[in-house]
Amino acid sequence: MLVQGKDREWLESVIVKLRMKMDRVSERSKEKIPYTTIDGRHDNRIVDNPSGFETDGICWWTNGFWGGMMWLMHHETGLDKYKEIAAYSEEKLDACFAEFDGLHHDVGFMWLPTSVANYKVTGNPLSRRRALHAANLLAGRFNLAGGFIRAWNDLEGSDTRGWAIVDCMFNIPLLYWATEETGDPRFLQIAMKHADTAMTAFVRPDGSVNHIVEFDPIHGGVVKTYGGQGCEEGSSWTRGQTWALYGFMMSYIHTGKEEYLQTAKRIAHYFMANIPESGLVPIDFRQPPEPAYEDSTAAAIAACGLIEIAKAVGEREKEVYLRAALKLLKTLDERRCDWSGDVDHLVTHGSEAYHNPNRHTPIIYGDYYFMEAVFKLKGDDLYLW
Ligand code: GLY
Repeated sequence: MLVQGKDREWLESVIVKLRMKMDRVSERSKEKIPYTTIDGRHDNRIVDNPSGFETDGICWWTNGFWGGMMWLMHHETGLDKYKEIAAYSEEKLDACFAEFDGLHHDVGFMWLPTSVANYKVTGNPLSRRRALHAANLLAGRFNLAGGFIRAWNDLEGSDTRGWAIVDCMFNIPLLYWATEETGDPRFLQIAMKHADTAMTAFVRPDGSVNHIVEFDPIHGGVVKTYGGQGCEEGSSWTRGQTWALYGFMMSYIHTGKEEYLQTAKRIAHYFMANIPESGLVPIDFRQPPEPAYEDSTAAAIAACGLIEIAKAVGEREKEVYLRAALKLLKTLDERRCDWSGDVDHLVTHGSEAYHNPNRHTPIIYGDYYFMEAVFKLKGDDLYLW
């Protein structure tokens, strides 16, 4: 356990609640890949999109999180049922490979918590194959002139050849894993080049980060930055801050490169200094005070990254990161978690983007990262990234 005394008592009580809730929810949603809930019931990205939320169907970028939750629960409980549900959702993702042009850089989000997890736990060779296939698709998006991984594909009329987004820091661990698994250094080289580019092009001197950076796709070099899912250009979309905070820690964990740790700490210091007294994280740290839009998913992801920093630094330093993570998680537990076994979602008040009506709603990665953070604090977590 990373925490003691009253914090440990709190953590143990949350784990009991998680186990009770997931026992019931997993039974109801075992043949689904959920994104959100409608009237307390999970929607299902395998068959349809009844929620009305924008979606790429089975290729939707969040479709690995449910499988990831099931692997975390399997690790926690040892129960086969969680493993079987995770394997079911992993199999369903095979359809994406047949329409691979529906995929973009988010293959890390999709296949790390599913196929890589499965392979790590069971050694399943088919899972290894799927994950290496996805890693090759990601490596193929690397732009040599700019030293970045291209984010999205073009929609009609758009030109995103030069676009990279900070979220990709969570996809490149798939490349680190591919080199660790095969010994082929190309994947690692691409991942580190992207991370090095992100350190200078995305992270600002004050520790805040850009969401979208457009590079010249032919000659390299930054052309423009965009506010993306945040409030406006130059603002500070909180989930983007957390993709960077925890994302640079992931790069540090895989490579040991000190600059990645220092970058993660700089972003963390900016983040911690901006957490409101309430512990409830806004969608954008630079949004107007009203409306008081919130994004609980940013709080959960930040907690994960802060705990990883605490694990990487010395005894004297770690307390500051753990305290901040605990504040975020306890606030979520007390004010934003729905612990009823009768509803499928756990964390409420997730928000897709500042300028998007899908605000203050359950989103699957809010549940996933809350769960990951709690098991991290326990100290024997299954690391999926
Ligand atoms: N990766 C997209 C998002 O965070 O909404």
